[in-house]
Amino acid sequence: MTTISPTRRAAEKRTDTLEAFFRPRSIAIIGASRTPGKIGHEIVRNLKLSGFRDEIFPVNPKAKSVLGYKSYEKIGSIGRPVDLAVIVVPAERVEQVLQECGETDVKAVIIITSGFGEVGKTDLEKRLVEVSRSYGMRLVGPNTFGIFCAISRMNCTFGPNYILSGKTAFITQSGALGLALMSWTTEEKYGVSAIVSIGNKADVDDADLIEYFEGDESTKSILIYMEGLKDGRKFYNSSKIVAAKKPIVVIKSGRSKRGAMAVSSHTGSIAGQDRIFDVAFNEAGVLRADTMTQAFDWIQSINENPLPNGPNLVIVTNGGGIGVLATDKCEELHMDLMELPDDLKEKLRGVVPSFGSIRNPIDLTANADDELYRKVLQVLFERDDVNAIIALFCQTANIDATLVAESIIKSVGTGEKKKPITIAFVGGQMAKVAYERMLDKRFAAYPTAERSVDGMYALISRYKRSQMR
Ligand code: COA
Repeated sequence: MTTISPTRRAAEKRTDTLEAFFRPRSIAIIGASRTPGKIGHEIVRNLKLSGFRDEIFPVNPKAKSVLGYKSYEKIGSIGRPVDLAVIVVPAERVEQVLQECGETDVKAVIIITSGFGEVGKTDLEKRLVEVSRSYGMRLVGPNTFGIFCAISRMNCTFGPNYILSGKTAFITQSGALGLALMSWTTEEKYGVSAIVSIGNKADVDDADLIEYFEGDESTKSILIYMEGLKDGRKFYNSSKIVAAKKPIVVIKSGRSKRGAMAVSSHTGSIAGQDRIFDVAFNEAGVLRADTMTQAFDWIQSINENPLPNGPNLVIVTNGGGIGVLATDKCEELHMDLMELPDDLKEKLRGVVPSFGSIRNPIDLTANADDELYRKVLQVLFERDDVNAIIALFCQTANIDATLVAESIIKSVGTGEKKKPITIAFVGGQMAKVAYERMLDKRFAAYPTAERSVDGMYALISRYKRSQMR
């Protein structure tokens, strides 16, 4: 067993910032394999393909070079400062390598290797934390797939090599799910500012990360997939402060008894009593999503919209049926539809055909074309007393859904929106093309009315919360 050297520079070096994980000027990959397909090799490849601009140092005593980068026998032979070290060597060698990282003044370490706390080897894991603390290093993992940071063009993971940039920092406790969601966020056009596979959370945990992302300008919202917490109080305290400034959405699994059992055998963490999580999230102002779809619907709405200035919500629709469905959903989520004042009704009467309805939901009927949507939205956007809008469109044979989409985009504008709007295009291929066009233009668009209401719920509930402070 190696001796831990005295805590020489540890105190000064152990800064509270996690900057070295996200904006390192140099990265060493220890265990950078020569063999394509091995994890250490794929991490070097992803770093290369993502266009990481600073220095990459593969470390592998058996290699001369890896993917065109000169390889080093050990981290100490690099002879230049290393901000971030990624450890991808078999478990029995990790402690020794970590020690060498400390001795060469590395600031941050990601341990990809599995086989620690999650398989009951908690003493071994504690030892890794002791070693890194003694040198003032911060540690992500072990048992992680790595970190992606869009602004640094740093894909330090063995996940997909292309990840769409966006505004959400995604923290995941599950490796496989996180890897799957990396591709999914790209496919669904969400994009991420960062992804952190948090692994066993031996040192850096959810609370540390949300505090970091609070100060990160490229991050507008934070999404966490959580199975359990080691220090619930710490997360509660941090999230209460951070959520007041940046939205935090959590998917916390293990609601059911069997689910909780599955959590403890998966990552070794304790799922805890679900009700306690519910209460704590609610008190801290953290939005807890029931499903992945809901979490991403919320995130999309939050990222693409300002918060409403008030609770007054108006629905515009071309179909009575989806208008009613949306109204039901609003009531279920305790979102009141605005009682339209007479002067607003009068203005609407000037543009809505006589057979339409100017009550809320405003029903433009199946004849509603792009021009009518434009006029009605213009009226609503000009009104200070209308704080939020849900626009619904059912595909019809006579109206081109894509023209309606273009018209909404034009009338709202593609810059900062003056007020929040969520949209649903319901129907077949044409509706899909229309709402995808809106996604491309950074609108919160959905394929069903209920989801557009749910998207708006994230904003209204944050607005209500802001009024309680
Ligand atoms: N310093 C530098 N390089 C070293 C080394 C050391 N001390 N010891 C070994 N290496 C090199 C090896 O020579 C090898 O390179 P090569 O392929 O060019 O010969 C490379 O590191 C990898 O070592 P290897 O023994 O082949 O291990 P591996 O690649 O099969 O497995 C892990 C290593 C870390 C990937 C594996 O132990 C592991 O933990 N896998 C699970 C990871 C995981 O799932 N994480 C969680 C994701 S959510």
